[in-house]
Amino acid sequence: MPDPAPRSLTFRIFRHNPADAASTPHLQEFKLEETPGLNLFVALSRIREEQDPSLQFDFACRAAVCGSCGMMINGKPSLGCRTLTRDLPATIALLPMPGFKLIGDLSVDTGTWFRALNTRVEAWIHTKEERDPNLPEERMDNATALKIYESERCIECGCCLAGCATVGMNPAFLGPAGMNRVARFMLDPRDERGEGGYFEVVATGDGVFGCLGLMACQDVCPKNLSLQETFGYMRRTLAKNLLHAGDGKGPARSRA
Ligand code: FES
Repeated sequence: MPDPAPRSLTFRIFRHNPADAASTPHLQEFKLEETPGLNLFVALSRIREEQDPSLQFDFACRAAVCGSCGMMINGKPSLGCRTLTRDLPATIALLPMPGFKLIGDLSVDTGTWFRALNTRVEAWIHTKEERDPNLPEERMDNATALKIYESERCIECGCCLAGCATVGMNPAFLGPAGMNRVARFMLDPRDERGEGGYFEVVATGDGVFGCLGLMACQDVCPKNLSLQETFGYMRRTLAKNLLHAGDGKGPARSRA
């Protein structure tokens, strides 16, 4: 049987340059013939090279590692570099992710958001212990290291935030990426922050109790992080620490 004729794809792409006072937000249509294995990185690069050199979008690693290519693909936040056009209908709408500062067209500034998050939750090990850098590394038990590694797999693409209804309503909400970041330090036995340190940051409506439980974050996470489990872990840990407040048992860390 002869190969089917290649599809003619229609891209409807959001265009706006906030740095240009004359620019107004609108959708612009581009046509492209589909080729085997075409992904959105290649498609957008071809459109930029062959049709409009002013088109702005971000890609760096092209391997779902750097997190720079998040965009709304037919209404769903996802990574452009790992999205194949063959998995999409012939008309493809591409918009920038909401909730981040627009740089231009499909390019948004996720870096400022994540930098502010890391400052807000003090995303570093808090310890009073003096460590001699010349001593060999201290080993952590494998089970704990694996749990921390699971949280560390986040590539900070922002897809979970773009898909989160609460982030849309409350910009102060830490969001799934923020909660995942805090959980990473709650799990780490080297971090000496007591429950007070975590409570202040996450046990509020801007933290874990602001989540509506819709779990779109988990549905759209390109790394398949168990964000639902992370939220549950945090709620349980905070509740345990509330129950044990004052009895000297300290923060519970088991992710059971
Ligand atoms: S280009 Fe790096 S994650 Fe897509």
